Amino acid sequence: MHLHKFLIASATTAAIIGGGASMQAKDTGSLRFDNISSKQASLTMPTGQTVEYTAYEGIFYVTNVEDSVYQTLNIYVPQTLKYGDATPIFLRTYIGGYMAATAKAPSASDATGRALQEGYVVCIPGSRGANSTVTRNGKTIYTGTAPNGLLDLKAAIRYLRYNDDLIPGSAERIIIDGTSAGGAMSALVGSTGDRPEYDGYLRKMGAAKTSDKVFASVCYCPITDLNHADMEYEWLYGCTNTGVRHLSPDQIAISDQLAAECPGYINSLGLKDDAGNLITADNYKDYLKTFLIASAHKALEEGCEIPDTIGIIRYVDRPDFGGRQMRPANGDGRGAPSFGPAGSRPMFNNNSDFVTDIDLDKYLSYVASVTPLKTPPAFDQYGVLIDTPTPENNVFGNTEGTPANFTDFSLRHRLHDDSATLDKDMVKRVFIMNPMNFISPDAASVAGHWFIRHGAKDRDTSFLVPVNLATKLKNSGFDVNFFLPWNRPHSGDYNLDDLFSWIDSIAR
Ligand code: DHB
Repeated sequence: MHLHKFLIASATTAAIIGGGASMQAKDTGSLRFDNISSKQASLTMPTGQTVEYTAYEGIFYVTNVEDSVYQTLNIYVPQTLKYGDATPIFLRTYIGGYMAATAKAPSASDATGRALQEGYVVCIPGSRGANSTVTRNGKTIYTGTAPNGLLDLKAAIRYLRYNDDLIPGSAERIIIDGTSAGGAMSALVGSTGDRPEYDGYLRKMGAAKTSDKVFASVCYCPITDLNHADMEYEWLYGCTNTGVRHLSPDQIAISDQLAAECPGYINSLGLKDDAGNLITADNYKDYLKTFLIASAHKALEEGCEIPDTIGIIRYVDRPDFGGRQMRPANGDGRGAPSFGPAGSRPMFNNNSDFVTDIDLDKYLSYVASVTPLKTPPAFDQYGVLIDTPTPENNVFGNTEGTPANFTDFSLRHRLHDDSATLDKDMVKRVFIMNPMNFISPDAASVAGHWFIRHGAKDRDTSFLVPVNLATKLKNSGFDVNFFLPWNRPHSGDYNLDDLFSWIDSIAR
């Protein structure tokens, strides 16, 4: 099927280059997807099925390559495309911890293998990150400070779009998928398509001069809204400070100061619930509880066991629930670790119980008891109470590898100067690394479709981060599928049946 497309494409290449676009052809001529060697390969899926595909690997997606280890992409084409020339391209980033990622081959155990099995084209780009370096004139240069990892993904997308006539599938229908820092990148790519803020950088890199907008964004536990994440963390988890979190008096003081900044931020967002009611700091926790209740409720329906010691408040013997069949665990509870031997704790009777409320403080203490919380500040930690930089401090660092603060709060604490502020360049970098800044009603830069997941026991960032992202997108008119899967820790590419039925629903 795609061979046919190739033949047509080669005939039109000359016409495009010769057709008055000489600037474009000159600057990005070497970015054309032609004479790219390929090989045949296959994957054996967990089901035992063999998936055969054509692999095109190690393709540079910019002309001014700074870091040849990372600035390449791989493209994988299944034998039969699910929707012919309109087949979406599933683009998976393996960025984690804001580190560099190499272009990888598809894996039978994550969404890339599944995408090929389903008949989608797969692209796996590499990208620079906090730990990538090159040696120049005997000096070590850090190549992946923010926003460079994001720019690499955008350049990879531009490559696909620039070569849409040559590459099987449709670059108008790119679906980006990432987890954690990769989920943050997915949210950024999904919200900043063609925004002028990135243009100058992309021009210098020699990225193709075309669109970098995507069709859909899949964000697993996005570690994003970094310049508000510290206050969001303390505002939510402050209830555990003198309990399970065991903070020192100094840490509690920082936690309290950060938490105090959060209500103003929440109120500034002007978010609304599904009924159109304004969400403020005063009612926010009730809003959050609706997502956790939905999560617990779905888990119960799927036959999961929930101990009654973790703040889930149930109502027994709901009359209209009695006829429901007990089903085996599947969906979002599947594969999640169990809470202990069946019968060892009081648990729900799935035929007659439902969740009425959550004791949020109790539930948050439970989350903190499963995985110890980060200490305050959770993200911009460098130089506040300890010198150790976080991955975020590193990614906002400089080309010499010196970490940096990215909030006035932490900068002031590190410098012991209440009037210190981030310099202009840092303010800009922080701004263009936050997807929340680019989401507004019907914004042209924002992908139409969003799939956002954050595990109900994931404490790597506050629940406010994904909830605000999903709500702002929804309020702005975008199609959002958002859920906090029960009993899920910090992880991604789970429950692929759900993901791919959603993808099919937007691709069909
Ligand atoms: C990741 C996790 C974190 O807790 C964090 O602060 C940044 C990145 C990650 O898994 O990518």
